[in-house]
Amino acid sequence: MEPLALYLHWPFCLSKCPYCDFNSHVRPEADGARFVAALGRELAFEAARLGPRQLVSIFFGGGTPSLMDPGAVASLIESACRLWTPAADLEITLEANPTSAEAARLARFRAAGVNRLSLGVQALDDAALAAIGRRHSAAEARAAIESGRELFPRFSFDLITARPGQTPASWRQELRGALSLAADHLSIYELTIEPGTAFARRYRPGEAPLPAAETQEALYEITGEEAARRGLAAYEVSNYARPGGECRHNLQYWRYGEYAGIGPGAHGRIGKAGTLRAIARHRQPDRWLAQVERLGHGIAEQEPLSFRERGREALLMGLRLAEGVDAERFAARTGGSLAEALEPGVLEAAVAAGYLEISDQTLRATNVGRRRLDALLATLLR
Ligand SMILES: C[S@@+](CC[C@H](N)C(=O)[O-])C[C@H]1O[C@@H](n2cnc3c(N)ncnc32)[C@H](O)[C@@H]1O
Ligand code: SF4
Repeated sequence: MEPLALYLHWPFCLSKCPYCDFNSHVRPEADGARFVAALGRELAFEAARLGPRQLVSIFFGGGTPSLMDPGAVASLIESACRLWTPAADLEITLEANPTSAEAARLARFRAAGVNRLSLGVQALDDAALAAIGRRHSAAEARAAIESGRELFPRFSFDLITARPGQTPASWRQELRGALSLAADHLSIYELTIEPGTAFARRYRPGEAPLPAAETQEALYEITGEEAARRGLAAYEVSNYARPGGECRHNLQYWRYGEYAGIGPGAHGRIGKAGTLRAIARHRQPDRWLAQVERLGHGIAEQEPLSFRERGREALLMGLRLAEGVDAERFAARTGGSLAEALEPGVLEAAVAAGYLEISDQTLRATNVGRRRLDALLATLLR
């Protein structure tokens, strides 16, 4: 049976962080039960059209899914496991915020069947947390990390680096503190000013007080160095894990496997090679809800992908991974070979320049190349 990962999107948050362009909305009066029922209907819809699959991951993302009713999480997990065949090592992740109210509910999510927690810590410094508009303190974050580690067999937290005013010395110190609290996985993202966010309105293009490019490179190097010292390898551009601690859900995306996404704005890649389709749901929560209640699904678009598009996506995702892109898997998922997808002259030049390497049927980006994937792929694809 083909492996499948399932993503469920919960689009609500207690407040909107000024840097965030995720599909998240502040709506205290949102009718949670109606949204949960609609997620259940979309789940049944996807299962009916997809047919039998081996379920390797369920991921509750957001927004803030830790605001969901734990009983609803349990029943969605149960439905997914009834509709598909759960793998023996099925990973069930929930994203959570470390405010104390949500942290108090963690045990109930564990009881609901969640076996991996991903906590949005962002920073371990009160002034930095306030500057990026977070509602929790560093002490609350530490407490949530402790209970997350205790309660869940697998546990990760997110940090945001390259924040205004951050220096290599201050980052090294903060990161060492974070690594001493980490279990087997950490995600570390560089702060980006996304269009449409409060930060983008506050700062004119290029005028945000972010660290200079050389400082950002230095911060990234420190991250890799310090994580490695604690046994966490950079297995992806922004993700660090001990062997076996890698996020199976995201690996399914990066290896260009099949995934279904349900909920407002969720994306899916369904089918294989010649039948692979990109599926997108309505982003606006009420529009999505109304369509699910009317038609049983919130799909806005379903597009077949051409070989060139499949190749571009497989490379854009796969080259983010330290393991690189496996030629056989690439062919199985895209329906063509790496040689058919790539411009030979550009490939040769990228290898000579130290951005890419080829070995054992694998195309890999070097550390330097991995941070320039968009530019590389602009010319590398035929
Ligand atoms: C969907 S959000 C996380 C879940 C949860 N709502 C939270 O905020 O803790 C996923 C992660 O993306 C990262 N993120 C979001 N916007 C970002 C930005 N503009 N720059 C860098 N990282 C960002 C944060 O680390 C965040 O934890
Ligand atoms: S970062 Fe998380 S809590 Fe903040 S608005 Fe985005 S999804 Fe919501």
